[in-house]
Amino acid sequence: MCGIVGYTGTRDAVDVLLGGLKKLEYRGYDSAGIAVMKGSDIELRRSVGKLNNLTMEILKRPLSAHTGIGHTRWATHGRPSEQNAHPHLEGGVAVVHNGIIENYLILKDELKASGAEFKSETDTEILSHLIQRATAEGMSLAEAVRSAVKRIKGTFALLALSEKEPGTIIGARLECPMIVGVGENETIISSDIPAILDVTRSAVFLHDGDMVSITGGEVEITDFEGNIVERKPTNINWSPVMAEKGGYRHFMLKEINEQPRAVTDTFRGQVAEETGEVFFDGFDVDLDSVQRIYILACGTSWHAALTGKYIFEEFCRIPTEVDLASEFRYRNPLVSDSTLVIAISQSGETADTLAAVKEAKRKGASVISICNVMESSLTRETDWTFMTHAGPEIGVASTKAFTTQLTALYLLAVFFGRTIGTLDEERTKELIHELVKIPKKIETILDSADYIEAMARRYFHFRDFIYIGRGINFPIALEGALKLKEISYIHAEGYAAGEMKHGPIALIDEEMPVVALAPKDATYAKMLGNMEEVHARLGSIIAIVNEGDTEASSRADDFITIPETSVHLTPILISVPLQILAYHIAVMKGTDVDQPRNLAKSVTVE
Ligand code: AGP
Repeated sequence: MCGIVGYTGTRDAVDVLLGGLKKLEYRGYDSAGIAVMKGSDIELRRSVGKLNNLTMEILKRPLSAHTGIGHTRWATHGRPSEQNAHPHLEGGVAVVHNGIIENYLILKDELKASGAEFKSETDTEILSHLIQRATAEGMSLAEAVRSAVKRIKGTFALLALSEKEPGTIIGARLECPMIVGVGENETIISSDIPAILDVTRSAVFLHDGDMVSITGGEVEITDFEGNIVERKPTNINWSPVMAEKGGYRHFMLKEINEQPRAVTDTFRGQVAEETGEVFFDGFDVDLDSVQRIYILACGTSWHAALTGKYIFEEFCRIPTEVDLASEFRYRNPLVSDSTLVIAISQSGETADTLAAVKEAKRKGASVISICNVMESSLTRETDWTFMTHAGPEIGVASTKAFTTQLTALYLLAVFFGRTIGTLDEERTKELIHELVKIPKKIETILDSADYIEAMARRYFHFRDFIYIGRGINFPIALEGALKLKEISYIHAEGYAAGEMKHGPIALIDEEMPVVALAPKDATYAKMLGNMEEVHARLGSIIAIVNEGDTEASSRADDFITIPETSVHLTPILISVPLQILAYHIAVMKGTDVDQPRNLAKSVTVE
C-alpha cells in the first residue's frame, strides 16, 4: 500500500506535495519522491526512508513549481532504495503508482527485448517505459496512459507527467483508491482524503476504470476508452485526524475493514485462479529433503503458526511443530539440515523471533519467513520471504496482518503439497478456488459490525472471559482472547474446548461469559456439548456459528454468523468477528485502542 499525490495550480507544488505525502505516510514509509515540471523539464527528487529525508534532500537542492506528482512507498517489489523509489522517470515521462502489476515480469522481458533499459527492481517502472514509448510514437499523455493500462494485469492508482505536456497530470485507477480535490484554479489528486484537505474539501471519488486528465483548473474524467463520465464532488467535513484514519475512529477499526483488500493483495499475483497454480518468485528450498517443519513466532503471529500446523500436516503430510520463538532457542531443539523453519512476524523486528531464527540457522536448518515489512531484519536473516501485502499496520493489536499470515500459510502449504505430490491438480484447484472467495466472505462479516457492537454492550462490563475452540479453531480461541485482553485489559483465556472438563469448567458461572467457536466441522457436535455444559452452569455464551445454523445458535445467549467455507479457511473468517467484538468492548471500556497500555507494535527487546 503506497501513497500518491499530484497537484497543479497556483500554489508552490513542492510544498503541497510534501504536505500531502506527510498525510499519507501511514500508507508506507520505505522511500519517497516527487517529480515537478520546471518549465518543460521534469525534475526529480527521491530519497530512501522516511519522508523527512526527502524534505532534507529538497532543502539541499531546492525546487519550486506549480505542477508535480509525489509518492511515499510501501515496498512490495524491490527493496527500499532510491533506485526503487517513485517517481520513475523515463525519457521525459514520470510515473507514481500504488498497487501491484502482476504481469510485470513478462512485460519487462518484452520491453528489454526491444531495447529498454531498466534502472529499478520495481513493477512500476514498466509503466514509465510503456507510457514513454507511446508518447514517443505521437500519442498524447492521456492516450499513452490509456494504452499502457490496457497492457497490465493487476491493480493500480497511477499518476503520470510528460515533458511534452507541461501542466497536465493524467491519473488512472483500478482497485486502488484515487480522489480528486477540486479547488479554485487548482487541483490535487491523491490516494486518500487526508492529503487533499489543505487544498480543498471538495472531493471527487474516482471509480474503478476511471481516468482523469487535469490541466490547471480543468478536470476531465473518462473511462479507459476515453468516454466522458460524470462524477459528482462530495464535500468532506472530516477533521484531518479523522481523515488519516479514513473516517474510522481508530486505526484498528480501519485495519479490520481493510482485510478484504489485504487478503486479496496477499494472494493476488501468487496464484492462477483458473488453474489453481501457486507460484513463488525465488523460492528454492528443496522440499523433498524436508523431514520436519518448525513454525516459530510470538503473540498473534504464534497463533497463526499454530493454525499453520493443521494446514501443513493436512496438505503436505510433513511433521510440523510450532514453537514460541522465546522458548525455541532455550530448549536445544532437534534441528538438522532436513529441517525447514518458517518464522512469522508482522514487523520483522521481534527480537525473540530473530534470535530463534539465528539459533535455527546455527543448527543447520533452512529458514524462510512470512513478513509484512520489506527489508526488515527478518527478511534479511532468512533465505526467502513470503511478503504479506497487508500494508502498514498501525494499531498495536494485529488484525489484517494476522489474516494475511493465515493466507500466506495456506498458500505455502498448497504450494508445498503440490510440489511434493501430496496434493494433485484437482485438489489444488479446489483449494485455490475456495481461497479467492474469502475476501467477499470477510465483507459479509464486516456488514454485521453494528450488530456485534450492540452485542458488545451486553458484555463489556464482565471482568473475565473464556474463549473455546477445537481443532484448527483452537488457536483462534487463543487469538480471540488475546485481542480482547490486549486492548480492553479484561482478563481472557483461550482454551481447547476439550480441556474444559479438565479444569476451566470450575470457573464457569454467571460472571464468566464463554465465546464458543462452533463452525460446522468434524468437532461441531463436541462444541455443542461444550455449550450445554457451560449453560448448565449458568455461563452465558457468545457463539460464532455458520450462517443458518439454528442448532448451535439456539444453544447460545448471543451468536454471530460467518459464511461457510472449507475447514482450513475458517480460521480467517472466524477471526474477524472476534476482532470486531474485542474492538467494541475496548471502546466501551474507554481504553486506548490503538496504543494499549504497556504494549508496543514491535517488541524489539527480549
Ligand atoms: C498482537 O495483537 C500483538 N500486537 C503481539 O502479540 C504481536 O503479534 C507480537 O508481538 C508479534 O509481533 P510480530 O508479528 O511483529 O513479530
